[in-house]
Amino acid sequence: MKPLLISFPGSLPLAASLAAALPADTGVASLHRFPDGESRVRVGLPVSKRQVIVLADLLDPDRRFLPLHFLARTLREEGAAAIGLIAPYLPYLRQDHRFEPGEAESARLFAELLSRDFDWLATVDPHLHRIRNPEEVFAIPVAVTHAAPLMADWIKTQVAAPLIVGPDDESVQWVEAVAKRAGAPFVVLSKTRHGDHAVEIELLPEATPRDRTPVLVDDVISTGRTLIAAAARLREAGCPPPVCVAVHGVFAGDALAALAATGITQVATCNTIAHPTNVMDVSGLLAAAIAPLIDGY
Ligand code: R5P
Repeated sequence: MKPLLISFPGSLPLAASLAAALPADTGVASLHRFPDGESRVRVGLPVSKRQVIVLADLLDPDRRFLPLHFLARTLREEGAAAIGLIAPYLPYLRQDHRFEPGEAESARLFAELLSRDFDWLATVDPHLHRIRNPEEVFAIPVAVTHAAPLMADWIKTQVAAPLIVGPDDESVQWVEAVAKRAGAPFVVLSKTRHGDHAVEIELLPEATPRDRTPVLVDDVISTGRTLIAAAARLREAGCPPPVCVAVHGVFAGDALAALAATGITQVATCNTIAHPTNVMDVSGLLAAAIAPLIDGY
């Protein structure tokens, strides 16, 4: 029997392409928010002995985790054979260290919560820093897929004579892979973050070509300040207006408007978080990544 894919809470646009790629039947769970802010979760069909895959949009996790927990526990109580979680965007990974005494190591604590509710997890380009492998903090199998091929192929078809630009050291992993597949040169800039909205990027290396279209590549656009600072440096150096390509478009607050105001010509993201900038579909990558996990049950 095919697994059952439930998109929750709310429907992520990639649910349909993912169900086709797996393939999976699609199931329904509903969420009602009571006026006092509490949630009522209902599973809409029999799940006994079925492999269930929950596709979850976990942007805004503080609000979305509790209904997801209720769903997972209910699926278990209703007899699901196995419950997997696809969280295309996995939040809380940046708080992966006790930076000050008494601070919560949220990455580990959040991983512990998800590990209690699900049998496996799949995600796209998790923001790993001090944690090298998600299974260091998750007690369940974690399938990770990478969007670099999608970003490279999009750039190849959409941008003439690109120069791939990484805004900081951490971006090397994406930038190298994207540049190699796109057959384009790349440069990596140096960043210092002073606060949530305060980001400084050093001057461009002398050798940076000025006659190619810069394509800023990053994993996450949150406040947008990283790419805004990088775009400003590129413009000051006489480069053409840049294009921005990212895996996860969080776009916190005024991020998108602020990016547009810097003269960036286009922002392109993957559909790991539903947003009008989505132009790359990760469903094929995710379906391939979770195949071994589904077979295991
Ligand atoms: C940094 O480590 C990440 O790769 C991104 O550059 C960062 O999270 C982007 O954040 P923001 O858009 O808030 O500058």
